[in-house]
Amino acid sequence: MQIIRDVPALRKAMAELRKEGRGIAFVPTMGALHAGHLALVAEAKRRAAHVVASIFVNPAQFGPNEDLSTYPRQEAADAAMLQEAGCAILWAPDAAAMYPEGHGTKVSVAGVSEGLDGAARPGHFDGVALVVTKLFNQVQPDLALFGEKDYQQLAVIRRMVRDLDMPIEIVGVPTQRDADGLALSSRNAYLSPEERTAARALPRALGEAATAIREGGHVREALDAATAKLRQAGFDPIDYVSLCDAETLQPVDSLDRPARLLAAAKIGRTRLIDNLSVLPS
Ligand code: PAJ
Repeated sequence: MQIIRDVPALRKAMAELRKEGRGIAFVPTMGALHAGHLALVAEAKRRAAHVVASIFVNPAQFGPNEDLSTYPRQEAADAAMLQEAGCAILWAPDAAAMYPEGHGTKVSVAGVSEGLDGAARPGHFDGVALVVTKLFNQVQPDLALFGEKDYQQLAVIRRMVRDLDMPIEIVGVPTQRDADGLALSSRNAYLSPEERTAARALPRALGEAATAIREGGHVREALDAATAKLRQAGFDPIDYVSLCDAETLQPVDSLDRPARLLAAAKIGRTRLIDNLSVLPS
């Protein structure tokens, strides 16, 4: 596996890979890799001859009071995992290569970026859309894989690729979870043992609400019950527990189309998100 840090070297390496004339799949990450990221790489390997992964902790998607400076960084361990998983190239630019002096372009996806995490983290999805646009232009893959764990991010990227006619197939990969149901996340490393135990309430509360809604239960009541369970487990603040149209992420109050149940809440100092599909029967 080649580790590449500047755009001209990446272009050259990509041109070599492309000469072989088979598909290139791309897995963008911020590193601190776990089995969730590796599931994306495994799916990429199934779908394409070559896999390119990136590690870039993107300053543009962190708010001023968020965890940019403390975000876990472990590039050597990550590179070993990616090599073992069969990646051809690790694209690992530094901030100066990604955002050179004078960088002034913004990318913003209206609508689907605005509610949920977009409301709780102003500017976050603009930062994601910008860096993913740049990564796509740098790597020029045939397909790119994103986790359903960050469901709104996946919806924003799908919208952006359609809106900007980017010739890239977007593949969503199901959320990988620990045995007790908690979605794998680089941020789980911040949890104390007690918080880690309490965090189980998040997938549990969402699972119970999803079942109640599928079985015809009142949506508002199911969301309120899930919120109460999170509060009881020690989550505070609870940014949202919401049932939304699975594509536009507009809130819905009945299950008359494919929907997604999404939540974000803090346990101690760690903000966790999770979501589940809720399909009408
Ligand atoms: P990061 O949080 O490192 O996640 C990289 C990819 O791994 C994302 O597509 C995310 O949804 C996926 N992922 C994380 N945890 C997962 C899990 N438990 N199961 C399945 N997939 C999981 O998301 C980002 O980085 C950044 O916003 C990025 C897209 C790289 C842009 O900076």
